[in-house]
Amino acid sequence: MSDQAERLREMVRERGAGASASVSSARRQGRCKSIAVTSGKGGVGKTTLSLVLGASLAKLDKRVLLMDVDLGLANIQILLGIAPRFNIAHVVAGKCAIGDIVVEAAPNMFLAPGASGFEQLSNIDMGRFERLRNDFMGLEENYDFLIMDTGAGIGNTVTGFARHADLVLLVMTPDPSSMADAYAMVKVLYEKGNTNVAVVVNMAGNEGEGREAFEMLRMMVEKFLKKPIRLYAILINEREVLRLGRKQLHLAGGEGVNFYKTVAALAKRLGGHQSQTAARGGFFSKFFGGTS
Ligand SMILES: Nc1ncnc2c1ncn2[C@@H]1O[C@H](COP(=O)(O)OP(=O)(O)O)[C@@H](O)[C@H]1O
Ligand SMILES: [Mg+2]
Repeated sequence: MSDQAERLREMVRERGAGASASVSSARRQGRCKSIAVTSGKGGVGKTTLSLVLGASLAKLDKRVLLMDVDLGLANIQILLGIAPRFNIAHVVAGKCAIGDIVVEAAPNMFLAPGASGFEQLSNIDMGRFERLRNDFMGLEENYDFLIMDTGAGIGNTVTGFARHADLVLLVMTPDPSSMADAYAMVKVLYEKGNTNVAVVVNMAGNEGEGREAFEMLRMMVEKFLKKPIRLYAILINEREVLRLGRKQLHLAGGEGVNFYKTVAALAKRLGGHQSQTAARGGFFSKFFGGTS
């Protein structure tokens, strides 16, 4: 898909379908802060970060919807050890409603299980597209945070989600190839007009190594894109994270493990911030309606 819903967005624009959202959704739109967790390459910790960040926000009494939009590898559910019957593909195919697929993974934390499916948006008819659009917009109203695990790479599937998010958490490792891929992602997102990108360096040997990796990225971004970029967090490579992930125990949040402590602190920072985009509408209004 060339930004999967692009063709339908055009149809929506042409037919003025933007006015069809319900009054209540128009009233509450924008309350939910959308965060896309993305990366240039895979295996850098996106799913782990999405899950632990979601769990940390939920512990702060925020209602969180985790959405698995890593279309190839929908694996938040694997990390949680659950096997939902329905997923986003069923919703897009019209086999069930979005409300039917959302499962409560922990108090205040809900999961919309993923699978390939969103790319089918360009093959569905206008009536169903509009119903989906309204369903997703209505869903979003129930949450304080929407966290999307987008998958890796600068393809349209990933950037289609990340470009509309209030905040993009770009995960990279100190590995030079990860840095190069992260730069490519920043370039694409900046070109698409989303400069709300913050970097998380994961799997750093130590704080200094993480900072050095970020500085290299920052220098490239400032030199070639002539724009700033900010560091959000440095997460250390810890065996415990790997071990607890394998045991599906991330929600237990190991005592004394830097990863969980740092992400909990991030959640605290985020928790105080309401979405800055209330006037512009919520995430799905932008995603389906195409405001850019
Ligand atoms: N800080 C870390 N220290 C050690 N292992 C980590 C860390 N972050 C992630 N991992 C492990 O790295 C692997 C890839 O993480 P994952 O979150 O699935 O990455 P992605 O979603 O980007 O592909 C997993 O086995 C995970 O447990
Ligand atoms: Mg993943």
